[in-house]
Amino acid sequence: MTMDLKDKKIVLGLSGGVACYKAAELCRALTREGASVQVVMTEAATHFITAVTMQALSGNPVHTDQWDTRIANNMAHIDLTRGADAILVAPCSADFMRKLAHGACDDLLSTLCLARPRAVPLLVAPAMNVEMWQNPATQRNLAQLRADGVAIFGPAAGEQACGEVGLGRMLEPLDLLEELIAAFQPKLLAGRRVLITAGPTFEAIDPVRGITNLSSGKMGYAIARAAREAGADVTLVSGPTALPTPHGVRRTDVQSAQQMHDAVMAAVGGQHVFIGVAAVADWRVVNASDQKMKKQEDGAAPVLQFEQNADILACVAATTSLSGWPYCVGFAAETENLVEYGAIKREKKGIPLLVGNIGHHTFGQDDNTVILFDETGHTVLPRADKLTLARQLISEIAKRLEQRSLLK
Ligand code: CTP
Repeated sequence: MTMDLKDKKIVLGLSGGVACYKAAELCRALTREGASVQVVMTEAATHFITAVTMQALSGNPVHTDQWDTRIANNMAHIDLTRGADAILVAPCSADFMRKLAHGACDDLLSTLCLARPRAVPLLVAPAMNVEMWQNPATQRNLAQLRADGVAIFGPAAGEQACGEVGLGRMLEPLDLLEELIAAFQPKLLAGRRVLITAGPTFEAIDPVRGITNLSSGKMGYAIARAAREAGADVTLVSGPTALPTPHGVRRTDVQSAQQMHDAVMAAVGGQHVFIGVAAVADWRVVNASDQKMKKQEDGAAPVLQFEQNADILACVAATTSLSGWPYCVGFAAETENLVEYGAIKREKKGIPLLVGNIGHHTFGQDDNTVILFDETGHTVLPRADKLTLARQLISEIAKRLEQRSLLK
């Protein structure tokens, strides 16, 4: 839990749709991240979920009516939006999209959306049947909302409550949470393409055994998420991990170092940044067996022969000499003399930035301490959770890209 929404005031609007059940979990996730949540429901939404549930989850009274004489000035549409950090309408039905696109204000939720100060972002998570979503009328309203600066989260494709399949499902609560948190992050890498490797590799010995390492992928996945939050188009080439893909990140799964190399080289064209976070195996087994190896009667142990894998980071760095892109960032795990070894490794790899992990203890942990090495020396990023460090790293990279563009 990063408490990324600490002290944020969020108005959570629910319009009518079966996805209201997901809004309950979303509300809980928002409060867990430290947000203070004011729930506003349309009359249609109250047919799908009760105000009591949303009140219990948000810890605040729920507003369902524009005419509420319990409010001293009877101006909930003003009171709720002044001082709010964002309004998130989830689910946003086709009809509510129509209202927003046309500036309607015939219930509390639509009125407060219209009455919000310009600085308060309006974010909507559409939820509807696939035909309703694809209908030109909805697409017209969608284009209008985009033109008006409204952020659209989703929808996702998949099986729908009505039994049909296609686009129109509301994003899952945790994806919406990620989108909302991202909305508050500075767009330092807008328009940039970032390619990242993460996780361990797996070098087969036979069809059921192999050699791997303790990398969990957490740091690489956190960097992928932070890059996406910063507005980049992110491709993640991942070795085997149990981690969920950060929302909005394109992911290619691989096993061996060779597959990781091939996937990276296929994707590297046009990338602005390459970050090699993966713990890539230095060697592969050349005499791997096609069949499961059996124990020998005489107790003889198998003899494995190894061959060195290509250094993916070095291969990518070699391509930058032509165009100057991508900007290459490497990682190094050292168990001793990090400051000395880090600087040497950066030079040896021929890359502008190297991130040194202190010790092998980082593998699988949720937090870390790192040292950044560049041509001017080194900087310590003190111990923090991996997402915080990832955001700091992205900001350091963005600063250096900015300097490069100015130099060109
Ligand atoms: N790397 C890579 N391909 C490899 C090996 C490493 O892309 N075949 C990348 C890693 O993703 C990381 C960096 O190179 O960014 C680590 O470099 P490396 O020299 O392998 O680091 P160590 O394993 O720490 O090196 P050494 O074994 O020399 O200590």
